[in-house]
Amino acid sequence: MAAASVRDVAQRAGVSVGTVSNVLNRPDKVTAETVARVMGAIDDLGFIRNDAARQLRAGHSKTIGLVVLDVRNPFFTDVARGAEDEAASAGLTVILGNSDENSDREAAYLDLFEEQRVHGVLISPYGDITARLERLRQRGIQAVLVDRSSGDAAFSSVSVDDLAGGRLAVEHLIAQGRSRIAFIGGPIQIRQVEDRLAGARTAVAAHPGTELETIEIEALSVLAGRAAGIEIAQRAPDDRPDAVFAANDLVAMGVLQALMMRDSDIRVPRDISLIGYDDIDFASAAVVPLSSIRQPSALIGHTAVEILLEQTADPTASPRQVVFEPELVVRESSRGLA
Ligand code: RIB
Repeated sequence: MAAASVRDVAQRAGVSVGTVSNVLNRPDKVTAETVARVMGAIDDLGFIRNDAARQLRAGHSKTIGLVVLDVRNPFFTDVARGAEDEAASAGLTVILGNSDENSDREAAYLDLFEEQRVHGVLISPYGDITARLERLRQRGIQAVLVDRSSGDAAFSSVSVDDLAGGRLAVEHLIAQGRSRIAFIGGPIQIRQVEDRLAGARTAVAAHPGTELETIEIEALSVLAGRAAGIEIAQRAPDDRPDAVFAANDLVAMGVLQALMMRDSDIRVPRDISLIGYDDIDFASAAVVPLSSIRQPSALIGHTAVEILLEQTADPTASPRQVVFEPELVVRESSRGLA
């Protein structure tokens, strides 16, 4: 027997198809007696609503597409959690995609979300995707940049002032008496990394006698941080930096592992102070609790969804940039040397 349709239910209940739709989607618009009649017909016929078709016919699905740079990074899972909580309060769900800091993967997710006609897109961009997001907007799919300000203000964005964050990190190291500072981060094309490095340079420039070495890595990962830390540990003591500012906490954890290896004569923070960025949960639990620059990760996700819902409701609304201030969190890895 063919699956019952909305039309079958309407005939059975003696109401219009629109009334059946209201009972399913806006029961507050229908009398209790009509709701009971329609639900009775649904039960009798074993009707199963086809949400995907209904959502697509409605022009937008009830899902939000979120693309993050690295799903292994707890920072982004916290962002996703904040986005999901706010989306759920609006009856929406979140599909999470991982670009893995790869432009092809990033493009594939944007294509998928367009095909699925998602309600909207949240993205922490890897490459320059302004033109691609503009095409989505022309298809009625709004986008909000996450964790990255929109340089040309073409799109709304929610981020932290990474210039201030980089400056805060290095000013803290200098205040602890450090003067030979290494910045470990990359790819520099990631705007967050670029801005943190620029902030670090601003702090060093304001303190004559301090110097900044840049060690570019291929990914913001523990592995890449560990490789950079091993290279530093293998240097003669006088060639080593006396402090490291890692572009994020995963990199900092890798550096810490390398510097604290059994055969290493280096102690953190005695010989080399260390600070990361994001203040992920693992930072405080590291073998030497990690100083970091805290980002309000869940709030970033929550706010990005709020803005997306505003823009979907009114596509003519002007894009807006929300920028949160970073916060210095001092722990053992850079504490009290001055
Ligand atoms: O992955 C890119 C980095 O930028 C993350 O660690 C987080 O700090 C984001 O802001």
